[in-house]
Amino acid sequence: MSLLFTPIDVHGVTVRNRLWVAPMCQYSAADGVPNDWHHVHLAQFASGGAGVVIAEATAVVPEGRISPDDTGLWNDEQRDAWAPITAAIEARGAVPAVQLAHAGRKASTWAPFAPESGSVPADQGGWTTVAPSAVAFTGYDTPEALDLDGIDAVVSAFAAAAVRAVAAGFRMLEVHAAHGYLLHQFLSPLSNQRTDAYGGSLENRARLLLRVVDAVRDAVGDTPVLVRLSATDWVDGGWDVEQTVQVARWLVERGVAAFDISSGGLVAEARITTGPGYQVALAAAVRRGTGALVSAVGEITSGPQAEQVLEAGDADIVLAGREWLRDPHFGLRAAGELGEDAEIWPAQYVRARRRA
Ligand SMILES: Cc1cc2nc3c(=O)[nH]c(=O)nc-3n(C[C@H](O)[C@H](O)[C@H](O)COP(=O)(O)O)c2cc1C
Repeated sequence: MSLLFTPIDVHGVTVRNRLWVAPMCQYSAADGVPNDWHHVHLAQFASGGAGVVIAEATAVVPEGRISPDDTGLWNDEQRDAWAPITAAIEARGAVPAVQLAHAGRKASTWAPFAPESGSVPADQGGWTTVAPSAVAFTGYDTPEALDLDGIDAVVSAFAAAAVRAVAAGFRMLEVHAAHGYLLHQFLSPLSNQRTDAYGGSLENRARLLLRVVDAVRDAVGDTPVLVRLSATDWVDGGWDVEQTVQVARWLVERGVAAFDISSGGLVAEARITTGPGYQVALAAAVRRGTGALVSAVGEITSGPQAEQVLEAGDADIVLAGREWLRDPHFGLRAAGELGEDAEIWPAQYVRARRRA
């Protein structure tokens, strides 16, 4: 049997395989409420054989949206709109998860497919962003530094959104601390220039993330909590693998179930050399340094390639993003490539299965 299609237990939640869908913003919601687009988009991956389907970066407060079109979980209308979507994922054999997010200084931007780019002006639905320090991301408006009450409010908002997520039927939660968004902005010395308890030392820069994870864990009890981290800013003097491993160790002590290891997003000018599996070594470093469950992501596009990542001991789980968009039945295809597709095909589709 392949490793990729061996079930995995994540803090008590059994998942049918280790090929999961990475969170992907659709920029298609109104007032944070998911709709028919999100329903079809996410459910198709469950039909297509995914183990876990992680719904897109979903804002815990309105000002935490990357764009005005992001989904949210800051009110009960949004919670109720997610419920049929999680049920559809579950009914197709996958585990529904959601990424809880706050974009900080990278909020209030145009969707990538909008004709405009950069920050959305206030008179077109934008807002003033917040961040650890009043330091802008290149090309975006300058944020306001959060005060201590503002930081407390962020912690409470993550916890409240987590409660709504579980009530909506999500069975795993991922805290988004990567890609240059708010929690990553606190971690990296390049965006965090605070001189209080939330800036300076690594302990201080990690304080907000640790508080958020504690609050979410307290709020949702047994629901597994994953954390997505950028393992490096890809620039000298920025966030790096060593700091990532240390913070991940602290997060393990706080009961984090698994790490989703990505990279970049904090510095617009960073030069990143991408290619097949380009972030796998970062996942492997966190796995070695923590002993925790770790997923790898980034240009992993076939069953054999994913299997090789697991066989090498570099990760326990493989996430894919764009390959699921190219082929929403990537899981069925990968299973076939590994000779494992007997179980996973929906009965309705079996007539299309190619037998070896
Ligand atoms: C359309 C699109 C939307 C994305 N949105 C998110 C997101 O909401 N949260 C996140 O952490 N990463 C997001 N990402 C990054 C993916 O989760 C993934 O890490 C990245 O695409 C690399 O994996 P891949 O090479 O398999 O696509 C997005 C990527 C794409 C292509």
